[in-house]
Amino acid sequence: MLKNNWQDRDIISIPELSRTDILTVLKHAGELKKKPQPKLLEGKVMGSCFFEPSTRTRLSFETAMQRLGGRVIGFADAAVSSASKGETLYDGMKIIGQYVDVIAMRHPLEGSARRASEATDKPILNGGDGANQHPTQTLLDLFTIKECQNKLTGLKIAMVGDLRYGRTVHSLLQALKFFQPTLYFVAPNFLQMPDYLLRELDTAGIKYYCKDTIDEVIRQVDILYMTRIQKERFSDITEYEKAKSMYILDTPLLRGVKPNMRVLHPLPRVGEITSAVDNTPHAYYFQQAENGLYARQALLGLVLGKLN
Ligand code: CP
Repeated sequence: MLKNNWQDRDIISIPELSRTDILTVLKHAGELKKKPQPKLLEGKVMGSCFFEPSTRTRLSFETAMQRLGGRVIGFADAAVSSASKGETLYDGMKIIGQYVDVIAMRHPLEGSARRASEATDKPILNGGDGANQHPTQTLLDLFTIKECQNKLTGLKIAMVGDLRYGRTVHSLLQALKFFQPTLYFVAPNFLQMPDYLLRELDTAGIKYYCKDTIDEVIRQVDILYMTRIQKERFSDITEYEKAKSMYILDTPLLRGVKPNMRVLHPLPRVGEITSAVDNTPHAYYFQQAENGLYARQALLGLVLGKLN
């Protein structure tokens, strides 16, 4: 088994990854996309512990493990785990860590992945903890941006929608700091990017602009990163109702955009990109979702000591 600085590592949040780490994951993801390795993780078992709903993250993690020759145990709903009987996250993850080699997890509480990592020595791969972080999504997003733009550095990127509660944009912003982007944040005031993240950009000397409408930015950018207004994150339903129809991308808005402009979205979408956009050359969100498979394969191979 290879011993490297990846082996047994938890992937909890983007600030724990260096630029080199990120580029290493992207390199392996690209190689695995070109050349599958069906025996790389033979004999390994992944725990798939999803306390919150998921389609892409859970199924791409599970497929990633299986397509590398490993096996998967787990649950897709906290209600069928002993969390429903009141077992603490700490106890549950300590036990599961005794059964498996690596754990992919999602949980509605911020900090839950970190807490799980304190319970077990097995690597924890954070598939989303509340409104906090979604680091594996960021790795697949960066892989996708590089794939569709042929570079990562110096791009103009707009993030649209729920920037306050959106863990995908929080993680992505922190990773993009390594690649000198110009960023545009398109959201109503009450859903704008949190101040602590804007301060991180100030410190890193990254240019950013807060805007009210997609129309103000769409013809300038290389990437338009749309997000869903997340009903489940709102305590005040009237704020949700106000926000949900404000940012809808349809084909008339695409007039005059750069030929290379690509629309990304972590998905699921609930109306913020019309289906007509799917048939334009700018839509790239389905390829983005597929790339989750390769980015997660790369991570599994790295933390299980089979890639370096
Ligand atoms: N992008 C993403 O996290 O999708 P799921 O919620 O379906 O996992």
